[in-house]
Amino acid sequence: MGSGQKTWGTPHHVLIFPFPFQGHITPMLKLAEVLSLSGIRVTFLNTHHNHRRLLSSPGVGARLASRPGLRLRSIPDGLPEDNPRGLTEATEIIAAFDATAPPLYRDLLSSGGADHDGAPPVTCVVADGLLRFAVDVAEEMGVPIFAFRTCSSSSFWAFHCIPKLIETGVMPFQDGCDLDEPVACVLGTESFLRRRDLPSFCRTKDSDDPNIRFLMDLTENSTRYRGVVFNSAEFAESIVLSHIRGKVRSTYPIGPLHGLLQAVEHSTGAVGDGGGDGIPSSDSTSLWQEDRACMEWLDARPTASVVYVSFGSVVPLGKEQLLELWHGLVNSGYHFLWVVRPDMIVDGGVPAVVAAGREERGFLAEWAPQQEVLGHPAVGCFLTHSGWNSTLEGMWAGVPMVCWPFVSDQLITSRFVSEVWRIGVDIKDTCDRAVVEKAVREVMAGERSAQMRAAAASISKTARESVEVGGSAFKNLERLIRDIIKSINS
Ligand code: UDX
Repeated sequence: MGSGQKTWGTPHHVLIFPFPFQGHITPMLKLAEVLSLSGIRVTFLNTHHNHRRLLSSPGVGARLASRPGLRLRSIPDGLPEDNPRGLTEATEIIAAFDATAPPLYRDLLSSGGADHDGAPPVTCVVADGLLRFAVDVAEEMGVPIFAFRTCSSSSFWAFHCIPKLIETGVMPFQDGCDLDEPVACVLGTESFLRRRDLPSFCRTKDSDDPNIRFLMDLTENSTRYRGVVFNSAEFAESIVLSHIRGKVRSTYPIGPLHGLLQAVEHSTGAVGDGGGDGIPSSDSTSLWQEDRACMEWLDARPTASVVYVSFGSVVPLGKEQLLELWHGLVNSGYHFLWVVRPDMIVDGGVPAVVAAGREERGFLAEWAPQQEVLGHPAVGCFLTHSGWNSTLEGMWAGVPMVCWPFVSDQLITSRFVSEVWRIGVDIKDTCDRAVVEKAVREVMAGERSAQMRAAAASISKTARESVEVGGSAFKNLERLIRDIIKSINS
């Protein structure tokens, strides 16, 4: 990496273990690729279900096979193959995985992999912070472990502040409490945060909510790791990161990881075969088949004329919500490209009005090559659920956003988009066609549009600088690699 030294001849072998959701697999697989290009041997541990889906995307298997010292392994997730695996099933997924994975993970740590392919034993783990058993088993086996958090640092910090939120009476939420009341104990007295911007789990009325206990438990666990890796960046969350630094052993903000991977590919000469915005076309980490016809549709549209609409990999939509969003988009007068996953509409399929009207203004895709879409010149606005990966991808591309956050960290991220980075409009807690129309118009051509576009262009430039050699993400990566190597002997 920094020194250009390769370490495959040495016993460094990192196991990377994500929570089995797309939003977790994507950044952690990028980290696996970055480490492998930096000379560290890596095993990426997926579930059988997701492993199969990942490798069915064209070009992905070949790309991953070409990464030096990277091997893919998978274990069952404990659910029948045809079991749905969306947000609604999250508790079921966690329970099944908690019951199934620990012995297999323990075996992998003790044998270095059951297939005896000559790889040295695993010497260090980077595990998703949501996998509680990962740190228990690693400690028991004496294997150093780092946590990877896929959420924004601000939501990680908000979870850390839950005891203070309870102490100061902000939580649990009382009936009729003022959602617009500023909350001072998370980021300080000048806080722009309101009660409604806290991660959605904080909205509980139950002082003994199991989700809250789970989150507090995860946060307390953070001190057990050698450090916490964030797919975040100093330029975006420096104040929050400075709060976190006193609470965990080390922090490694190395995001946006898709950008860092590109920079490492360039610095090591491992550049792919070319795609939109310099991203290799086989850069995908998608579990769904990407509909590439949408790229041709975009090619035929003028610059900054299209609204790209995507709510990530797990958000479910009710038919009513879909219709409000649809009418808002149609009424805005702009063309739009909308990702409607096959499992997305909870109470039936795509309504007839949407199916019939799509040719007129909108292109519906079941799954799109999102990073390429955002990098396409025709895209002028991103209507997003403010998932952390999507937010970073939007920032990287310099595309201003309309934020319709749905759950968890998305609620705090959307506030940062509108109030801190000033690159978009936050419409949380409303799903009304008039509001959607107004927000889209505001971002596309309203009074503040030019300001938002300029801020988005500036943050994109800063993000790109941060991943280059000498930039903050690149330096944090070098420190992470040094600490992984050091951890073997300490
Ligand atoms: C979730 C949370 O929202 C996120 O904040 C958390 O930290 C990780 O898990 P998800 O809801 O799926 O993830 O959203 P997001 O984080 O934005 O990740 C979605 C990923 O899917 C993005 O990398 C996006 O590029 C990709 N995607 C989405 C596609 O490649 N194509 C699509 O059509 C839609």
